[in-house]
Amino acid sequence: MPQRPLIAPSILASDFARLGEEARAVEAAGADWLHVDVMDGHFVPNLTIGPEVVKALRPLVSIPFDVHLMISPADPFLEAFRAAGADLISVHPEAGPHLNRTLKRIRELGAKAGVVFNPSTPPEVIEWMMDEVDLILVMSINPGFGGQSFMTSQLAKIERLRGMIDASGRDIPLEVDGGVTPQTARQCVDAGATVLVAGTAVFRGGPAAYADNIRALRGG
Ligand code: DX5
Ligand code: ZN
Repeated sequence: MPQRPLIAPSILASDFARLGEEARAVEAAGADWLHVDVMDGHFVPNLTIGPEVVKALRPLVSIPFDVHLMISPADPFLEAFRAAGADLISVHPEAGPHLNRTLKRIRELGAKAGVVFNPSTPPEVIEWMMDEVDLILVMSINPGFGGQSFMTSQLAKIERLRGMIDASGRDIPLEVDGGVTPQTARQCVDAGATVLVAGTAVFRGGPAAYADNIRALRGG
């Protein structure tokens, strides 16, 4: 019987004119982590937010900040995001030449180190790094934009990574990001996911709906 997943709302889908209130509202509605999508207009075709925004939001909520870096290179910005209050920092292997060095640096800074899998990135990328990864994030869309449809092709990858985590004996959260709805959430959890990112499915309907939206993603 799979456990109930943690829910990490992506503030990308929130009302940016009221960002602080939105962060507080999802925390009050039961969010477990706050997912922050950082894009550079180079690694992905969109621009979003930087460390100053993380710093401004950090004092407003107490749940962990799950910072998803879609930037290349990532290394020059790790320290700034950590100093701003990032608790988990995830990078794409394609963003820099030395994934292992980047993961070590994130840990040295005192944050949890995550690896993000694009839809085309094979699970084997972390085969020799299972002791050095604190979070695994599977993209079920191509990164860059919210509101895209879930790619069911990624369910088999989630299952494969679940097996790798179990074989490692380490309790590594397995997170899914992109097109997560109550329906696809169920598929992800059945495949072995333990954390679900959701933008559209959390923020639709405005603040009065957040608690129900989060509950629906957890499976009721
Ligand atoms: C996309 C981001 C996602 C995105 C998810 O690059 O990594 O976190 O905000 O949005 P939804 O849940 O709307 O697919
Ligand atoms: Zn994300």
